[in-house]
Amino acid sequence: MDLLNSIDKERIPRHIAIIMDGNGRWAKERGEDRVYGHHEGVVSVREIVNTCGELGVGYLTLYAFSTENWNRPKEEVDALMELLVNTIRKEVEELKKNNVRLHVIGDFKSLPDVCQTELNEAIDITAENTGLNLILALSYSSKWEILEATKQIADKFKKGEIEEADITDELFHAHLSTAKYPDPELMIRTSGEHRISNYLLYQLAYAELYFTDVHWPDFRKQSLYEAILDYQRRERRFGKTSEQIQKNTAPHA
Ligand code: FPP
Repeated sequence: MDLLNSIDKERIPRHIAIIMDGNGRWAKERGEDRVYGHHEGVVSVREIVNTCGELGVGYLTLYAFSTENWNRPKEEVDALMELLVNTIRKEVEELKKNNVRLHVIGDFKSLPDVCQTELNEAIDITAENTGLNLILALSYSSKWEILEATKQIADKFKKGEIEEADITDELFHAHLSTAKYPDPELMIRTSGEHRISNYLLYQLAYAELYFTDVHWPDFRKQSLYEAILDYQRRERRFGKTSEQIQKNTAPHA
């Protein structure tokens, strides 16, 4: 409760991006199978989504499955896909009731058909919601996304639809899968690794990075409050000097 009181409600990050790491280690530490850790990770997902809604966060992007995760043992990949389908099926009414709008970024077509169907339904069901935008990064990697954007821009250039001078930051941004969303202001990674791991490389240019040793299944409300308080203690300069800092200078934010 104290931590919540310390948060400045006027300076809540508009967009928080999270790398949910440590499910496997959390499970191993308890002598359990890695998949058990993913199941407990879903409990954290639910709590963090609710907490972001309560705080008035506009966008929450969760790295739920990376392009590289396809290389995990087949049983784990299957278990993760099944967990995704079951979770979406179970939670969609709650998301609707809580005014959460679901979005997906990543190579959607590479997901199993049943995942695509379930996600498309949930996206439709929550499409009118106006509260938190919950963006699941699935079969996502930043290098894939940047290459896709580059190919689309090259194609337009080849067809004479754009000139070299049109290729600006705004144009590039408009071709990313996150085109509709502002850039994250805070990126959280759990479980002690200090890496970005092919996550939103273009969009995180000015984000504050927050790393915690807490494994994802233990990352709950209080951990999120701690991350936001840490973010609020920082001065965001965007390459300027302290003296020059004024409000509303963030690119895309
Ligand atoms: C990283 O832990 C976590 C993942 C690769 C998957 C995250 C998935 C969930 C939390 C569940 C499904 C999500 C939704 C949105 C329904 P890890 O396995 O890399 O852990 P480790 O680094 O300890 O091995």
